[in-house]
Amino acid sequence: MPVDSVSVVTSVLETPADTNDQADAADAADAADAADAAEAAEAAEAASGSDPTASTWWRQAVVYQIYPRSFADGNGDGVGDLRGIISRVDHLRRLGVDAVWLSPFYPSALADGGYDVDDYRAVAPELGSLDDIDTLVGELHRTGIKVIVDIVPNHTSNRHAWFREAVAAAPGSAARRRYVIRRGRGADGAEPPTDWTSYFGGPAWEPLGDGDWYLHLFAPEQPDLNWADEEVRADFLKTLRFWADRGVDGFRVDVAQLLVKDASVISGLDGSLPTQAQLSAGGFADGEHPFQDRDEVHDIYRSWRAVFNEYDPPRMAVAEAWVPAHRRVRFASAEELGQAFNFDLLQTEWVAGAFRKVIDDNLALAREAEASSTWVLSNHDMVRHATRYALPNGTDLVAWLRDGGTDPAPDVARGLRRARAATLLALALPGSAYLYQGEELGLPEVTDLPAEVLQDPTFFRSGGAEKGRDGCRVPIPWRESGESFGFGSGSAHLPQPAWFGRYAMERELADPASTLRFYIAALAARRSLLAAEELTWRESPSDVVAFERPGGWVSVTNFGETGIPLPEGRVVIASEPLTGDEIPPETTVWLHTTKASA
Ligand code: NOJ
Ligand code: CA
Repeated sequence: MPVDSVSVVTSVLETPADTNDQADAADAADAADAADAAEAAEAAEAASGSDPTASTWWRQAVVYQIYPRSFADGNGDGVGDLRGIISRVDHLRRLGVDAVWLSPFYPSALADGGYDVDDYRAVAPELGSLDDIDTLVGELHRTGIKVIVDIVPNHTSNRHAWFREAVAAAPGSAARRRYVIRRGRGADGAEPPTDWTSYFGGPAWEPLGDGDWYLHLFAPEQPDLNWADEEVRADFLKTLRFWADRGVDGFRVDVAQLLVKDASVISGLDGSLPTQAQLSAGGFADGEHPFQDRDEVHDIYRSWRAVFNEYDPPRMAVAEAWVPAHRRVRFASAEELGQAFNFDLLQTEWVAGAFRKVIDDNLALAREAEASSTWVLSNHDMVRHATRYALPNGTDLVAWLRDGGTDPAPDVARGLRRARAATLLALALPGSAYLYQGEELGLPEVTDLPAEVLQDPTFFRSGGAEKGRDGCRVPIPWRESGESFGFGSGSAHLPQPAWFGRYAMERELADPASTLRFYIAALAARRSLLAAEELTWRESPSDVVAFERPGGWVSVTNFGETGIPLPEGRVVIASEPLTGDEIPPETTVWLHTTKASA
């Protein structure tokens, strides 16, 4: 398992020129341009489906990712929960998102932050109940917000009823066939079948004590399912219907590329499988890796599509598929999941040309798949973008985090300035935008969590060589002071640093120049300008990214360190205050113009 190819780990504005209140500015702009906006919105709906009742609602949706254990704690036990989310629906409404994606809320021992699922059709008792889910879905729907849930099909947890059964059953039994289990090497099967290492570090095989070994591409508590088993396939269809019947609008599919293993992984002869060195060297022809991105995986998603299409509107899905770009198209096709994450911006440095290339490449792929593109700057697996951009290009994030996150010292103000500019740029792109809780506050990564509070298996399995992802999962600050900064009435399950209060939601809401007010204004402006999924590049200097969307929406980002002339048009919003006729360094501006240049 070449960790390098699927690194799941880590690896401050305001206002448009003429007013101090961006939300008001967006409103004023809307009013001034109501006719244009209405026309553009109509065109967008017709072309791309921003209409929540349309089957294509997701194509240009703004989706807000909630990591439930760290969003809001309703009962003060330190762990975020469904009641907490319900109490904050207002925040989501005010922010103006179209959908919420809930990271796993299923029963779990949290060996991997909930991505180790004990039961796919239940709610973790510490997070709430199925009734709470129904209430949450109902509240969100009443507010016009769709709901996407996380499905984790590659592996169950080791507490799942099936795995317990497999452990108790005999080699060769049906219970063992649900997992990727094979005999160990040597006469008594005492040696692991291969020397493969898991993505979180350490061996990928664990003994069952009778000569059989099970594969876990992630933590030992996450045994891989055997998708050649019909019962496994049928059970997931049941799970999809279970949630769709409850009104859930879509599914985010965890590590969608890994489900199918070559038959030889389970039943091949000893020595017939590649070594870890061979896996790491790569060079497999498309579809021929023993467990990554095999062609047969698409049969599964075609059968899922049939289920999605039983509903009206059809349920949507988005694949987390770590595959080469040209292989992503199939996951995203309308016959399969319909959309696939593009993580390229998560890995793109602060370089205008790199952004342009990522945009071009992904729009071309989306066209090929007839899907809409996706844009992601932060999520629960990556160093937050306000922190990435606070570091010089080329910084090795894994080493930087491991060494305490101080060398080089992050330039916090610059990180936030660039983060806001990148966000505004991404929100202007055709396709859907996935936001991660806390980024609307400009929240940086927490880099100094002491080893004794860390939860991420990456930290433990790498022997501390990787610090892991806890730093982007620290509970959200809602109030400037008080117990857990308003996250709940008890102390948070991951400690929040003293400076968290500066980013508190209430404080930012009261400050017209805050990042939160900037996000609110940006999402409102996006809604009014939303246009068909087309982009036309504008001629621009090498450190500028400038493009137009249909209907006169123009986005210009100055990646450079000196100001550039402000193009013609009405300023709708800017990621930094504008003075005079310049776009300041590291700033994005949206303009509305009736004069298209191309
Ligand atoms: C991807 C998820 O985003 C990550 O958090 C998780 O650790 C792995 N898949 C394994 O489920
Ligand atoms: Ca709680």
